Amino acid sequence: MDIKFDFSGRHVFVFGGTTGINLGIAKAFARSGARVCVASRKQENVDAAVEALRQFGGEVLGVTADVRDFDAVGRALALAHERFGPIDVLVSGAAGNFLAEANDLSSNAFKVVVDIDLNGTFHVMRQAFQYLARPGASVINITAPQSMIPMRFQSHVCAAKAGVDQLTRVLAIEWGAAGVRVNAISPGPIAGTEGMRRLAPQGEEGDAMVNSAVPLGRMGTPEDIAQLAMFLASSAASYVSGAIVPCDGGGASESIKSMVEAAAQEMKPRTA
Ligand code: HXC
Ligand code: NAP
Repeated sequence: MDIKFDFSGRHVFVFGGTTGINLGIAKAFARSGARVCVASRKQENVDAAVEALRQFGGEVLGVTADVRDFDAVGRALALAHERFGPIDVLVSGAAGNFLAEANDLSSNAFKVVVDIDLNGTFHVMRQAFQYLARPGASVINITAPQSMIPMRFQSHVCAAKAGVDQLTRVLAIEWGAAGVRVNAISPGPIAGTEGMRRLAPQGEEGDAMVNSAVPLGRMGTPEDIAQLAMFLASSAASYVSGAIVPCDGGGASESIKSMVEAAAQEMKPRTA
């Protein structure tokens, strides 16, 4: 049985929604009738995303903002609220990643990932609460297998995404009384994304290695993640909050550890 979600007229805001998985989420909501706002740092990414989202025929807004800048995040959300009204679905997915062992990270290199992934998620949630449709809004953070599985070359990302998981769980408790649900999606390896370009062995051989490590036999697609996001945002998930939901083809998360090690062999991370 196929499920067709209907978010007609709903306001969906996707922070970091201009490329990759997050753009896939924005597209799925736009296709289902939502009014969508996407935000990220680079004007060219914002422009391209807005153009891609317009093809679905609904209202679209693009804003440039760096998730590390608390005030800029607030301005982006205020603009979207002014244009589309209360936010029904908030997705926070901006992230940064590169391969480096902890001893090869400067203080700033560790900080930059924590600032984007963890502090950025806090900024988005903290600034958005005043604009959320209460009761009824749904918040979806995008985490990663690194939040639960320790991986060499990923100390900065493991620490940051573990923080995203706990922030998700705590705000599900604190915001429950306001009728706001807070969940996170933990994608497995998603084909054709920046994350996989940075963390997986490349080429046909690399793809074959990753595919064979996934119980379902293939990498995921942004659409796979988008379908779960729509489910979590829908009334079908009205009793789901504080959940970190993997979408990884049956436990591919564990095999990401060896994928990252193989990629590091190939890419030769910078050393201090
Ligand atoms: C060691 C590095 C480094 C590297 C940067 N740094 N790259 N250190 N190895 N490869 C250091 C720099 O030297 C600097 O430290 C500090 O990090 C900040 O670097 P900047 O280039 O000044 O930062 P900035 O311009 O803000 O860019 C942030 C970024 C960049 C994270 C470094 O890569 C970025 O913008 N990424 C966004 C896109 C992205 O990463 N997408 C993938 C998400 S995938 P010093 O000491 O020199 O100042 C993901 C999970 C995937 O999150 C999971 C897959 C399974
Ligand atoms: P991506 O294409 O690089 O997406 C990252 C997005 O965040 C981009 O739109 C980027 O746009 C934006 N961004 C980055 N830094 C930002 C900042 N400081 N302020 C505002 N926006 C910022 O990566 P992806 O691979 O699709 O990953 C998307 C999400 O999925 C991330 O949270 C990642 O951790 C998670 N994930 C990915 C995979 C995978 O297989 N790819 C697996 C597990 C989890 P700008 O450059 O314009 O700012």
